[in-house]
This record gives sequence, C-alpha cells and structure tokens, in this order.
Amino acid sequence: MSNAQVMVWLNGESRVVEGPEALLPVSSWLRTVLHLNGTKVACGTGDCGACTVLVATPASEVDATVRWHPLNSCVRFVFQLHGCHVVTIEGMSSAEALAPAQRCLMACHASQCGFCTPGFALTMTAALEHSGKPVDWRAALAGNVCRCTGYSAILEAAEQAESLVQSEGSDHWLNTRFPPERWQSKARELYHQTLSVPGHDGGSARTPALYRPSSVDEALAWLAHEPHAQIVAGATDLGVEGLDATRPVLCIEHLTGLAEWSVTSHPDVSNHETVRQTLMLGALVRWQELPAIFSRTAGVHAASLSALVARVGGPQIRAAGTVGGNIMTASPIGDLLPLLLVLEARVELRSARETRVVPLREFGRGYRATMRRSDELLTRVFVTLPQADEQVRLEKVSRRYEVDIATVSLAARWRDDHGILRDVQLAAGGMGPAAGRLVHTEAVLNGATNVADSWATAAATCAQDVTPRNDVRGSASYRSLVLQTLIAHLSRSPGGAA
Ligand SMILES: Cc1cc2nc3c(=O)[nH]c(=O)nc-3n(C[C@H](O)[C@H](O)[C@H](O)COP(=O)(O)OP(=O)(O)OC[C@H]3O[C@@H](n4cnc5c(N)ncnc54)[C@H](O)[C@@H]3O)c2cc1C
Ligand code: FES
Ligand code: FES
Repeated sequence: MSNAQVMVWLNGESRVVEGPEALLPVSSWLRTVLHLNGTKVACGTGDCGACTVLVATPASEVDATVRWHPLNSCVRFVFQLHGCHVVTIEGMSSAEALAPAQRCLMACHASQCGFCTPGFALTMTAALEHSGKPVDWRAALAGNVCRCTGYSAILEAAEQAESLVQSEGSDHWLNTRFPPERWQSKARELYHQTLSVPGHDGGSARTPALYRPSSVDEALAWLAHEPHAQIVAGATDLGVEGLDATRPVLCIEHLTGLAEWSVTSHPDVSNHETVRQTLMLGALVRWQELPAIFSRTAGVHAASLSALVARVGGPQIRAAGTVGGNIMTASPIGDLLPLLLVLEARVELRSARETRVVPLREFGRGYRATMRRSDELLTRVFVTLPQADEQVRLEKVSRRYEVDIATVSLAARWRDDHGILRDVQLAAGGMGPAAGRLVHTEAVLNGATNVADSWATAAATCAQDVTPRNDVRGSASYRSLVLQTLIAHLSRSPGGAA
C-alpha cells in the first residue's frame, strides 16, 4: 500500500502533512506552519540543541519498549517523521503538572533568557525516561548549549529531576502522557508502508518528488529511474546543507534491512591458523548503536572504539547520524573514516542491476567525492576486527571537546612481535582533501624496533603522506605539528615500548 501524505503524531494527536510542507525542516514546520514557537532555533545547523524535539518510532517486535530520542529539529525533515510520534515543549506538561525536568529547572533557577531551556527540558526528559541506572548528565546534555545561565544550575536541576522521578515514580513520563497503545499500531502500519509524493512545478516554487520506499529493493528500483535523487538517511549532514529543490528525494532512514549488523569468523588469508572476525555494519546503523555493537564484538578494543563514538556530535546527532552517511559524505574530517581505513573496510554498493564490494581505500575520490554510481545505495560495510594482541589507538583533536568536528584525527593499528613492529596501519583525517592512509609512515615503522625513536623518526616523515590546508580550524603547519605529535606519542600509549 502506498500513501501520498505524511502522517505524524504530534503531542498525542495525529496530523497529516501534504505538499511542500513535507519537505520543510521540522523546526520550520513547527514554528512557521503550526506556530508552536516553544521550539527555538539558535544555530540552525544542529550544533546547539535549542530546537530539540523528542521522537519515538513504533517499537519493534523484538524490543517492545517505545524509546524517545532527542533530535535536532533544524536538521530533520518533516517526511522523516512519517509514522513517528513527536513531542515538543508544548506537549511535555500535563494539565495537572509540569514534567519533572521543567519543575527542577525552575526550582534551580536554571534559566535566564530561556532560549535553550525547552531543549534542555526535553533532552533531560528523554534521558530520565530510559534511565534505569544513574544518568551521566554531562554526557547526556552535551548536545545542548546554554550561553547565559551557565551549566552548574542546569546540571543541578538534572540531578534533582533524577531524584524526583525516583521518589514520585514518574520515570515513564512520556509513555504515560502518550500511551503507546493510543498511537503505535496505526503508526507501525504507516511506518513500514511506501510513501510516494509526486513533485510539482509551480513556477518558482518547485516541489521535488519524494519517495520513502518500504524495502531496499523498492528503493533501488526507484533509484534506477531517478538516478539524481538526493538520498536521505539521518540528515545530519544533508539537513545542514538543505535539500536541492531541483532533485527528487529518496528517504531510506527507516529501512530496517539496512540497520542490521553481524559478525562472522573465518581463517586469515595469510595464516590459516589464525581466525579473523569480520564485522558487518548496515549503512543505517546509527552512531549511538555502535558502543553496544563494539562491546559485543571488539573484545579488549571495545572501550577505545566506543570512546571515539562519544566524541561524535552530541546525543542528538548520534541518535540520527549513520555509518553510511558518514562514509558517503566523504568529509576529510569524518570521524569514522580513519578507523575504517585501518580496519581494512570494504563497502557494499547495490543497484537494481548488481551488487559490488569495494575496498574503502579505493572508494574515496578526493574531497567529498566517492566512486558511488548514481543508481547505487551504500548498503553495508565490512571491517576486519583487530585481534587481542594488536594495538589500536584513536585520536581526535578538536577545538571543543564536545559537539565539534576534528581538526586532525589519527587511527593507528599495529602488532608488537617480540619488540618488532608489524602490520602497522595508520590513517589520518583533516590532513588533505580526504581521510587517507599514511603509507610512507607505515613503511618506516613496519619492521622497526618498537621504541620511541622509531615512532619519532616515522612522525618526522609523515609530511610525505599528507597535504594539509589552512582553514578556520587550524593552519597547515599547526595540523602537521599535531599529526607528528600524535604519531610520536603512540609509543607512549599503553602497549607501546617507551
Ligand atoms: C552538529 C553536528 C555535529 C557533527 N559532529 C560530527 C562529528 O563529531 N564527527 C563526524 O564524523 N561527523 C559529525 N557530523 C556529521 C554527521 O553527523 C555524520 O557525518 C553522520 O554520520 C552523517 O550521517 P547521516 O545519516 O545523518 O547522513 P545524511 O545527512 O542523511 O547523508 C549524508 C550524505 O550521504 C548520502 N547517503 C547517506 N546514506 C547513504 C547511503 N546508504 N547510500 C548512498 N548515499 C547515502 C546522502 O545522500 C548525503 O549526501 C556532525 C553533524 C552535525 C550537524
Ligand atoms: S537550532 Fe541549534 S541545533 Fe537546531
Ligand atoms: S538561558 Fe539563555 S541560553 Fe541558556
């Protein structure tokens, strides 16, 4: 069955969205169409959390819990809400009481101009809804910025709210206000149905066609006829750029077939006695899911891999941004790319005609360019998981610790074979038009003694592998110095010899 209208639940009521409104950023739809001005827009680029709304998709059959995610409504399109429930600040309180987070923000005087306050209240409420264990509030609120009150009072309010929900038993505030049985079964039906909205040309106001298929095969068949379509996954990159009104839109975010992961064991190609593990990640696996996947698959390396994820955006970005989106944006500072390069990643591309698997190393074609053909979807990525006797280091240097993209990043993987460095793989981000392997530096290290001098010598040669540029995040010379320092310091990390 196919629908031509977006249907969404907003603060408990179902709404139909038609025509060009379906292509608006959610924040614009809320504020300018519905006049729900409690949702604030400060940056408009996903950086500050002022526009946070809570979004729940219908629960899956495997996990029956309805989960509410804080998302930045300025980098989300209305069509992405099809079959979802959205809660804005206007829907948070009941007729009888403010939500616990709102009460505690007031009690702690944690609001001055108030512009950030709805976003904080919503993010806190989502964290409280699913807590079950103490919330790390600094991490949970890292995607929300306040520019006048200061964070002490806000953190105090969050802690008080946590105690309050425990004492009054209101830790399911959202699912109590909006009982899943009132919206979920219809929403689930819609969520998995095809949405097809024809485009129309109204002179200067052109509306592109919108297609939200119910399966990967449907998506590929449509893409074969609309090869110039804009593919929308989590929209954390596209939402910043904005949609191109001249190109049709293909929304794939909800395709559960592309959100799966698995791990398989197989003998190493060069040493059949060694068992290697390959992790398959669907293109739509979100950043926020990676720590749990790593903890189940990456053994001793899980903590360092997960630490990288914690440095990506804030909770709002990690709840929406996908593995496939990060690869396809092909940004020189995409955080996943250096890691994937040292994990010898291969990407799977599917079209209606064929499926091909390409090493990630060959997939990139310079600044924000890849060898994806216009009728292809990136469907899966395969990585070789590091073994317990290998070392893995991931470094990200940025101007701000939270919600900032890298100035320079480095991924390193090597093995210490009785004091000799083997299988060294290094990849850097922010050091050229695309993230890339440092092949000359690797050659200096492979076979060298694992002592500080070897790393320092290699660091001094890394200029051969990179072409850094000056930009707002740092000068070329600063970047080179940072990269050299990071490489030289790898020997001082746990597992290094010096
Ligand atoms: C505030 C903010 C902070 C951020 N912080 C970081 C950070 O710290 N580190 C970092 O690396 N990134 C960061 N990003 C960038 C972004 O969140 C990531 O790159 C994210 O992984 C993109 O995924 P997405 O699903 O949102 O992509 P989308 O925006 O949906 O798509 C990005 C591009 O990929 C294409 N695409 C997506 N999926 C597919 C597919 N399966 N097949 C073919 N093409 C596809 C789209 O057409 C588009 O061109 C940040 C973004 C914002 C707004
Ligand atoms: S307005 Fe800043 S994240 Fe949306
Ligand atoms: S209260 Fe003014 S920005 Fe937070």
